[in-house]
Amino acid sequence: MSSSYLLLLFFLLNSSTSSATITYNILHYGAKSGGKSDSSKAFLSAWGAACATTSPATIYVPQGRFLLKNVYFYGEHCRNRAITIRIDGVLAAPSDYNVLGNSGSWIKFERVTGVSIYGGTLDGQGTSLWACKHSGKKCPQGAKSLAFYNSNKIIISGLASINSQMFHIVMDGCHNVKLQGVRVSASGNSPNTDGIHLQSSSGVTVLNSHISTGDDCISIGPGNSNVWIEKIACGPGHGISIGSLGWAQQEPGVQNVTVKSVTFTGTENGVRIKTWARPSHGFVKGVLFQHLQMVNVQNPIIIDQNYCPGEKNCPHQASDIKISGVTYEDIHGTSATEVGVKLDCSKAYPCDRIRLEDVKLTYKNKPVEAICTNVGGKLLASADDNSCLL
Ligand SMILES: *[C@@H]1O[C@H](CO)[C@@H](O)[C@H](O)[C@H]1NC(C)=O
Repeated sequence: MSSSYLLLLFFLLNSSTSSATITYNILHYGAKSGGKSDSSKAFLSAWGAACATTSPATIYVPQGRFLLKNVYFYGEHCRNRAITIRIDGVLAAPSDYNVLGNSGSWIKFERVTGVSIYGGTLDGQGTSLWACKHSGKKCPQGAKSLAFYNSNKIIISGLASINSQMFHIVMDGCHNVKLQGVRVSASGNSPNTDGIHLQSSSGVTVLNSHISTGDDCISIGPGNSNVWIEKIACGPGHGISIGSLGWAQQEPGVQNVTVKSVTFTGTENGVRIKTWARPSHGFVKGVLFQHLQMVNVQNPIIIDQNYCPGEKNCPHQASDIKISGVTYEDIHGTSATEVGVKLDCSKAYPCDRIRLEDVKLTYKNKPVEAICTNVGGKLLASADDNSCLL
């Protein structure tokens, strides 16, 4: 054995046992708390330093309020595959919504691998933008608070997001993602403030989270698979939604989605599947909705394949999205309207293998009505109107 080989062996053994985490405190890169001076550059410098090494790195945000303009973290030149961002403080967006304007995202990660965020609060300062949107004036679109694009191995744990201008958290084109103990809050009438939006992603788990917002608590767009959602409190908000799907003509489908142990309180919908009434090829298959509690929910169980708001761009058309293999099991509680189950499927591609088991919902202490159109499947063990399914 040559000595250089021994040296290499020694080096490998040594480096695997001493991979101590290096900490990059944003204060050392010029960040200033108080919420007045922009700390974006400091944050990006800390990211650059962490990316330059291959040992596990922690970017640390201490207590305090740190103002950030748009910050974009790119992974292409990042050598590090284990960066933890530990936040004890608050990251605040500029209070003037014109600063983020139509920029899309406030805090964005793109093509990163192995990034974890622990703790912290993101304050999107969205209230003045919502007021602008409500007033009917011309306003910028606003920014998503935290967005990951084309990234892998992401963990977000114990993070709070408040008052985002638009969506709170977005995963688009991501694989192997875990969100847990996340708290999302915004007013029930804040426009377009989805809690967690998933798009073209796979292997996403959302656990133990509390979401109160003005739009969907969780929305699952086209191209998602292997999604697991468990132990969520949702409300106010528009519920958990698969969709909207079928705006584009060809769309990747949604498959293998589990939503279990969720409480919906005062929401517009409970669990919803929504497709535009437009010719579009795509599918939804393999969905389990299980152990759900509804408290005064307007549409506890809904499939809407005739979505055409304002009758624009889609009047009198049918959706070509095929919905199959959807199970609703152990769903209890109260509806805020008479029709607690509404399955309105496409006449071009009827829903099939729809199964309802142990679904007991009441409206004013009476069983809810169920309305089904173009649906095939089984309704089991329900006291409700069982003429609904075949
Ligand atoms: C469905 O997704 C879950 C994760 O949510 C995964 O564990 C399971 O293997 C997937 N099933 C199939 C058939 O891919």
